[in-house]
Amino acid sequence: MRVVELSASTIVAVNALSLKPGQEQFVAPISYSVAAAVTNPATTWQRVILEGDDVVGFVQGNFDPEGDQDYFKSVLWRVNVDADAQRQGVGKFAVDALAGEARDRGFTHINVMYEPGEGGPEKFFLAVGFTPIDETEYGEVVGRLDL
Ligand SMILES: CC(C)(COP(=O)(O)OP(=O)(O)OC[C@H]1O[C@@H](n2cnc3c(N)ncnc32)[C@H](O)[C@@H]1OP(=O)(O)O)[C@@H](O)C(=O)NCCC(=O)NCCS
Repeated sequence: MRVVELSASTIVAVNALSLKPGQEQFVAPISYSVAAAVTNPATTWQRVILEGDDVVGFVQGNFDPEGDQDYFKSVLWRVNVDADAQRQGVGKFAVDALAGEARDRGFTHINVMYEPGEGGPEKFFLAVGFTPIDETEYGEVVGRLDL
């Protein structure tokens, strides 16, 4: 597996990544939609995960030490693994890539926000090392991964 930058040749495949039934509702927690209105595209970090030549996942983070929202200064914004490639370590690989980038930029942790619930990503985030530390006003869990 390797990570590459989003490009004209991968963007179509990224948009076509599939989900398992029931996962749709967990992809975009409300907090992210609200924050997106004030997020600077220049602070966004996006990578595509390839296995051979196949696009199997996508990961997006935001790194903004000057940001006014604490949990969004170093944050996992989105991680998505194709339905057929799930439970094979792709998601962990994606989080590790994001964690490495955060470390290179001098951050000591990354945050994530997710909706708890059956079929959601909670077990995954706990398995890769995030600890629940807070809850948002929309009832999402705020997780923190120390680097
Ligand atoms: C969450 C998601 C990214 C996980 O990706 P993945 O490649 O399947 O995860 P991994 O194979 O790296 O899993 C690592 C560990 O997390 C845990 N885990 C992952 N998915 C799990 C699930 N559905 N149920 C229970 N545990 C799970 C397991 O401990 C797993 O290790 P194991 O397979 O050796 O038991 C993927 O399910 C997905 O794309 N979901 C839909 C989109 C989404 O909800 N994204 C998060 C919100 S932004």
